[in-house]
Amino acid sequence: MASFARFIRLAIGAWALLLVISSSGPSSAQQINPTASSVKEQQLLRELNRIEGRVSIPDERSGVLEQPAGREWREFRNVTLRWVGGVAMLGILAVLVIFYLRRGMVRLESGRSGRTIVRFTAFERFVHWMTATCFIVLAISGLNVTFGRPLLLPLIGLEAFSEWSQWAKYAHNYLSFPFTIGVVLIFLMWIGGNIPNKVDVDWIKRGGGIVGHDHPPAYRFNAGQKTIYWIVVVGGALVAATGYELMFPFYISDIEGMQLAQMVHSIVAVLFIAAMLAHIYIGTIGMEGAFEAMGTGTVDINWAKEHHRLWFEEENARTDARPRTAVTAAE
Ligand code: HEM
Repeated sequence: MASFARFIRLAIGAWALLLVISSSGPSSAQQINPTASSVKEQQLLRELNRIEGRVSIPDERSGVLEQPAGREWREFRNVTLRWVGGVAMLGILAVLVIFYLRRGMVRLESGRSGRTIVRFTAFERFVHWMTATCFIVLAISGLNVTFGRPLLLPLIGLEAFSEWSQWAKYAHNYLSFPFTIGVVLIFLMWIGGNIPNKVDVDWIKRGGGIVGHDHPPAYRFNAGQKTIYWIVVVGGALVAATGYELMFPFYISDIEGMQLAQMVHSIVAVLFIAAMLAHIYIGTIGMEGAFEAMGTGTVDINWAKEHHRLWFEEENARTDARPRTAVTAAE
């Protein structure tokens, strides 16, 4: 009898405790029990806005399993970025091919004089080619992250793709350092010749001499080259800053900040690549005599007069005052 009375007291106590807990708990706890096996992933996301658990390792951030912003980011990475990148790069390639077929190479209209003038020093060329080499490897290894899985993986298979991707990732990480140094040096070396001025307005109005056969005057860098310069400086700074944010996860920002960094990094990178395709075109098959400037460091005097007359006059005035070392007879 005594034990029956104890049982009744215990049952009433438990019932009262249950009532207190259920009336004082948070509303979400009333509706769902996150550990119940019948709870659906979608329901958890709706209620809690993210799915998070407890982990036994020191880094508690790794306990986040799902966060809705990640879905938008994944959509951007797998769909939007591929479209923007594809259209920008293939678009510019198509424009260049059409332009080349219609206009052909911009010829040296007055022919070669046989005398050359120094355009870029050995140091300037070294910096240019170091930056350019890094850029090309960074571009290929970066594009592998965006397009490798749908385009390359089906062609070369899983084994080869994972091996290649691993090396590409190492290259991407390590070459970011000399690339960043190159961008800083380019900024410092050529800032003097790349401040926009009145001559640029006239140059643009006259189509830069590329559209048509005009030769609008220009100092050391024309408006087109200044555009490339600023794309390199601003684009380089943006990809470097966001790239380092991604290379050292959680040091600079949280997961949302890194998603934003990845979006900026990848969009700037694909537009940067598209712009550089145009630069490479004009520096090689697009214009007669241009490559020599970065190859040997000298250009024909007639090339300098046709494309950079004001710079040529300045250089002439400068070297006229000193013993002539800049202008030499070509071999
Ligand atoms: C195969 C690739 C490349 C070729 C053939 C090339 C060629 C050239 C040439 C010939 C010039 C001198 C133009 C002149 O004398 O006026 C030049 C200048 C320059 N290059 Fe490149 N380049 C390449 C890649 C790059 C890359 C990847 C970057 C930067 C990421 C870059 C940045 C620059 C800059 C800032 C200038 C000075 C401004 C200008 O002339 O546009 N180049 N390049």
